Amino acid sequence: MRWARAAGRGLLVLVVLLSGYVFAGARADVPGTGRGPLTLATAGDLTGYLGSLLAGWNRTHPGEKVTLVELPDSTDETRAQMETDLRGEDRGRFDVLNIDVDWTSQFAAAGWIRPLPRERFPLRDFLPPVVGTATYEGRLYAVPYVTNAGLLLYRKDVLAKEGLPPPRTWAELERDARTVAPKYGLDGYAGQLAPYEGLTVNAAEAVYSAGGTILGDEGKRVTVDSAAAREGIDFLVRGVREGWIPKQALTYTEEESKQAFEDGHLLFLRNWPYAYVAANGAGSAVAGEVGAVRLPGPDGPGTSVLGGSNLAVTAHTRHPDSAERLIAYLTSEPVQRQVLTRGALPPVRAALYDDPALVRRFPYLPALRAAVLSAAPRPKSPRYDQVSLVVQAVVHDALTGRQTPAAAVRCLARELAAVTER
Ligand code: GLC
Repeated sequence: MRWARAAGRGLLVLVVLLSGYVFAGARADVPGTGRGPLTLATAGDLTGYLGSLLAGWNRTHPGEKVTLVELPDSTDETRAQMETDLRGEDRGRFDVLNIDVDWTSQFAAAGWIRPLPRERFPLRDFLPPVVGTATYEGRLYAVPYVTNAGLLLYRKDVLAKEGLPPPRTWAELERDARTVAPKYGLDGYAGQLAPYEGLTVNAAEAVYSAGGTILGDEGKRVTVDSAAAREGIDFLVRGVREGWIPKQALTYTEEESKQAFEDGHLLFLRNWPYAYVAANGAGSAVAGEVGAVRLPGPDGPGTSVLGGSNLAVTAHTRHPDSAERLIAYLTSEPVQRQVLTRGALPPVRAALYDDPALVRRFPYLPALRAAVLSAAPRPKSPRYDQVSLVVQAVVHDALTGRQTPAAAVRCLARELAAVTER
């Protein structure tokens, strides 16, 4: 009977704990309850949708209202501002951070964000690869919110006139960029090749598509020195050298490259899905003429880098319970649907990619799901900012012809080793 008494005692403790939890939870903004108003910091909201989502929460949670703080558009500048804030005297103004997927390890290792209880979030309903971006050393430190995968946008009208399908391989992309684009007064291909996080993404996609890697073992091992990595970097370097990637692309971030494509200057563009929606929308000179497929690789579809953002709770927040509840709201099915319909951003919930009404409205969803499922994360590292800076600097030097792809890969191996051993 001992076990029954013990179990009974356990149940009693559980009931007391639970009722305490519910009771405490009912009183908003009382010290010690973990509930109260919140500040959510995010990179620039490029599609201007987030305010309306948060308004939905604020209407029904008067004691836990969220104030939105929009930081710069560029992910690098946003990270720098969040870091300054988190290192500051008063340990920051923010409770919830919408962090780029590649920062989770660094923010967790620095102790800026707190581990989260897995059972409070619908992780099983998410596309599997996104959950990996939210963990560090086996613990959950953030909750996936938006995913992303690079796609190849192409001009349907131009390829149709030439009787060509969208390219599946690098050779086909190069051929069309070099021979078809000039016939229509267009540049061939562009991505985001300015020295910032976007270049790390474009370089990693080229390396991964050729079968290479950059780091292994959660950032502890440098694996970049390979023939595959050289082939990947060479694809981009060759494009610039031969002119089928225009020189201006070396200054492009997402927004500038999107604008060049919308203004009708490019045959092909690598960008995130939001650019596909915008290029077919009002204000685009090529609306209705834009298709999207998976990124090409050496012998067939290539590998996209997994993009997107995760929601994390700061270590010092006074309202962790509200913060977790807000995250549960933002990752709930109806809100994730709005992330797509209002924000043109790829949701993390798998079932939405099969929803017939959504697929009719966003015909790129099946291609996007395939791209996300086969996408590879950026190297996980507690020093991710340094890793990315090295990749950006070295690859940009190769793109401007200051060093060969082979020398660039040797240099990457050397400099990344210095970062990871530090
Ligand atoms: C997008 C992606 C993000 C990536 C950034 C690069 O915002 O979602 O993951 O780091 O672009 O510029």
